[in-house]
Amino acid sequence: PTLTFIEHSGTTHEVHGEVGQSVMQAATFAMLPGIQGDCGGACSCATCHAYVDEAWVERFPPAEGTEVDMLDNVTERRANSRLSCQLVIAEGMDGLLIRLPASQY
Ligand code: FES
Repeated sequence: PTLTFIEHSGTTHEVHGEVGQSVMQAATFAMLPGIQGDCGGACSCATCHAYVDEAWVERFPPAEGTEVDMLDNVTERRANSRLSCQLVIAEGMDGLLIRLPASQY
């Protein structure tokens, strides 16, 4: 599926993601600014913080456990904040819209 990422600056990127890959992987393979993924997806760095568009929030299982704890540490947490390494791309997610925060720190 093709995912759309909108940077904090408003710059939009269309990125191809593979089913089974995480949203963080798709973004970092495309070398998007505004997302880091320092821990490689182990849910231990919170530098993959992103906002899932409201229309898509329910397409993912809710955050739980470590992700919830880690989200307490992100800058500018919102109701739709997620760690994008925990969001697995599935069939039918063409058009998934993710907004990136101003900073990961
Ligand atoms: Fe480290 Fe997501 S990549 S928490």
